[in-house]
This record gives sequence, structure tokens and C-alpha cells, in this order.
Amino acid sequence: MTWRSMTWRQRTSRLVTRCLRLRRLLVAAALGSLTACSTDSTFSPIARVLVSPRCLNCHTMTYFPRQGEDRHPHLFLVARGPEDHGAVGKRCNECHQTQNQGNGVPGAPNWRLAPLQMAWESEPGKALSEGALCRRLLDLSHNGHRNLEQLAEHLATERLVLWAWAPGRNLDGEQRATPPVEHEQFLQAFRGWRAAGARCPP
Ligand code: HEC
Ligand code: HEC
Repeated sequence: MTWRSMTWRQRTSRLVTRCLRLRRLLVAAALGSLTACSTDSTFSPIARVLVSPRCLNCHTMTYFPRQGEDRHPHLFLVARGPEDHGAVGKRCNECHQTQNQGNGVPGAPNWRLAPLQMAWESEPGKALSEGALCRRLLDLSHNGHRNLEQLAEHLATERLVLWAWAPGRNLDGEQRATPPVEHEQFLQAFRGWRAAGARCPP
């Protein structure tokens, strides 16, 4: 039916229908961008990964690594050692190979503790708050002088980071848990946070 041949009543009804359709579209678009904001640009999803045991067990402020979901001190009194590679006679790579072993020893190339200045704990065994963690991550004197580009690169390609999403089985033969966000979504969250100005929560 053409516009010309319509009665006023039919014209009004068509306009109303179009208006409603447009409103639905606008509401959907607004909701879409709102959820995009809340999931893509805050530091929260990034923090949730950083404080997960797979990452935090190496980013400790103690002179020893930690293990498992309960983050207990490493077996056999393994110590950090002078260069984060373990003490003489108990170097990390005497047990940790370049890949996970069937006997429960996790592995990735150059397995070692994160240096003390890269610790993400506020006290032994306790993770930094989201705000403090965020500032620590951005602090060049604590992050190995990495700018945001280099941090993104590290998170995308470093084998010790990638290990967290393929952590193998523990000594009891149970699959270790992976971080709470998938790797690809984690990288996406980092990109979104960065694009929105890399702001830290208070
Ligand atoms: C086996 C130990 C180990 C594990 C597991 C590990 N890291 Fe690290 N991490 C290191 C070491 C060692 C460095 C220092 C590397 C350097 O500066 O070249 C480091 C450095 C970093 C840095 C750069 C410095 C900083 O503090 O900003 C980031 C970011 C990082 N790790 C993220 C992660 C994330 C995310 C995970 C978990 C998904 C993780 N790491 C798991 C050992 C580990
Ligand atoms: C004597 C052998 C040995 C040495 C030396 C050793 N480790 Fe381990 N490590 C193990 C074993 C075995 C496990 C598995 C324990 C388990 O899953 O219950 C383990 C697990 C870990 C984990 C736990 C991963 C997780 O998230 O649960 C980390 C982190 C770790 N080692 C870091 C280190 C670092 C860093 C060094 C050197 C400073 C080191 N280890 C030296 C044998 C060793």
C-alpha cells in the first residue's frame, strides 16, 4: 500500500510502528555499548587473572614460590635464590623442564620466579588490591620498563604466561585450574582497558 492511498488512520499506525521499531533499535544499541563498557574497559577482568594462583604463585613477595590453589609454600623448601632461579643445588630447572612433565612437575622455557619488584602481593600470601595491582603493573620501575605495548606483547606471547592456560596435572594427577578468563578474552580486555585510557581503580 502506498502512502498516498492510505487513510490518516493507516498513516498514523505505520508511523507509530516505525517509531517503536526505531526505539527498540536505539535501546539495544545503548545497552550494547553499556555492556561493552563494563566488560571491555575496566581493569577488573585483568586483575582477576593476575591474582589467580597460576600467576600469583610466581609473582610472590616471599623468598620462595608457592603451589596449588591454596598457594602453599613450594615443597622441598625451594628458595628464590640470588637471581630468582633457585638456590645452588636446587635450581628451578633441575626439576622444571621446558614443558609439563607427566609426573606432575609443571614446565615452560626459563622457569623461574618473577623478580621481587614484580611481586603482586601486599603481604605474604595476600594479593594486592585491584587499584594497587594496576598501578604496580604500569610502574616502569616495577614492570621491567615495559610500556603498554610491551606489556601487551608479554601477555600475548611469553611462554610463562601462556603456561597458565595449559598448566597440566599436579602431583596428585589432578588437572590444575586455569585463570578465570580465557586467554583471548583476557587479551581483549587488556586492549579495551588500554584503548579507554588504561585507568586504574582507586
Ligand atoms: C613460572 C613463573 C611465572 C608464572 C607462572 C607467571 N609469571 Fe609473569 N613473570 C615471571 C618472570 C620471571 C617475569 C620477569 C620477566 C622479565 O622481566 O623478563 C615475569 C614478568 C611478568 C610481567 C611483566 C612485569 C610486571 O610485573 O608487570 C607480567 C605483566 C607478567 N609476568 C604477567 C603474568 C601473568 C598474567 C601470569 C599468569 C597468566 C604470569 N605472569 C605467570 C614469572 C612467571
Ligand atoms: C626438587 C624439584 C623442584 C625444584 C628445585 C623446584 N620445583 Fe617447583 N615444583 C616442583 C614440583 C614437583 C611441583 C608440583 C607440585 C604440585 O603440583 O603439587 C612444582 C610446582 C611449582 C609451582 C606451582 C605451580 C602452581 O601454580 O601450582 C611453581 C610456581 C614452581 N614450582 C616454581 C618453582 C620455582 C620458581 C623454582 C626455583 C626457584 C622451583 N619451582 C624449583 C618441583 C621443584
